[in-house]
Amino acid sequence: MTGHPVPANAGVWQGAGRRIHLQEVGTRDGLQAESAFVPTADKVALVDALSDAGLAKIEVTAFVSPKAIPALRDAEQVLREIRRAPGVVYSALAPNVRGAERAIESRADELNLVMSASESHNLANLRMLREQSFSALAEVAAATRGTGVAVNVSLSCAFGCPMEGDVPVQTVLQWCERYVQELGARGVTLCDTTGMAYPTQVAALTTAFRARWPGTELTLHFHNTRGMGLANVLAAIDAGADRFDASFGGIGGCPYAPGASGNVCTEEIAHALTLMGYDTGVDLVRLVAAAGRLPALIGHDIPSQIVKAGRRLDLHPRPVEFEAIRQRAIERRA
Ligand code: COA
Ligand code: ZN
Repeated sequence: MTGHPVPANAGVWQGAGRRIHLQEVGTRDGLQAESAFVPTADKVALVDALSDAGLAKIEVTAFVSPKAIPALRDAEQVLREIRRAPGVVYSALAPNVRGAERAIESRADELNLVMSASESHNLANLRMLREQSFSALAEVAAATRGTGVAVNVSLSCAFGCPMEGDVPVQTVLQWCERYVQELGARGVTLCDTTGMAYPTQVAALTTAFRARWPGTELTLHFHNTRGMGLANVLAAIDAGADRFDASFGGIGGCPYAPGASGNVCTEEIAHALTLMGYDTGVDLVRLVAAAGRLPALIGHDIPSQIVKAGRRLDLHPRPVEFEAIRQRAIERRA
């Protein structure tokens, strides 16, 4: 809390202890885009550190073709070796029945199924028409019945496609309806795969979704490609959303989307929301420590502003010659 007086109609600007669920996708959406193979033991240690940092849900890995995404070829081992913290949901991406079977076998709590709102992006990413993807998703959903494993569907390019441009709101809502009604999805994630979303559009789509499916878990998944990530998160909260995907360190990006870059950064979002009085459940010190391990593992710098600059009240020492500066200033005044 900042201690500043807050006007009664402060809306989104005043968290007032409201719970926001932050869902970590860095070990999936982040690491899939890296050319370096992060050793399995380090991946497990990262996920354990994220559990300790209080994330509500962690998308641990993806059960995709090891040829398509070699960085995640150790999915089974990672999911089996992580420590399961009570209350944390451990999910995994599965593109087809084969992936779903691997994920269920490895004790995923939830499967994240993916298709795109845009035909072009769906073909580029998944090599199928959207209708074919939907049939594949239906098969995967059927494979989970009776297993206790929940299904979430992530809809890529829900806020625009880098090849086709704007995707009509009606198209997005029609697909969502099929996930909820035909697949029985517990949740739907609207993904801004390439950072095309902007706040007014986010507010409109979030409001429309919430009005139609108040009982469905809605997640917003933003990439910070054009610097609108935090603004989009706030617009979504204002419109009734309370779940967000984010990547520690701000890493990530779809390898099949031109111009893609990192997800909104978990520690940046947690830092901002905590200052505004929201309850994210996140231990920032632990989260920043986990993100701080990434550069050595992936071999390059990370976008996180919080890892670079610290939290706003992580104070810095005064300059060594500070006393002399002060004395000179006092003398000049005299
Ligand atoms: N797990 C392991 N291997 C898999 C697999 C899975 N879930 N799905 C497919 N494969 C393997 C097949 O066995 C086959 O291997 P082979 O070449 O040795 O015979 C190969 O992948 C191709 O399989 P096919 O069924 O012909 O699928 P495809 O070429 O149309 O690929 C995808 C479809 C989507 C499974 C594959 O492209 C993929 O995994 N892509 C990754 C997508 C992704 O994660 N994108 C970023 C996240 S949005
Ligand atoms: Zn993404």
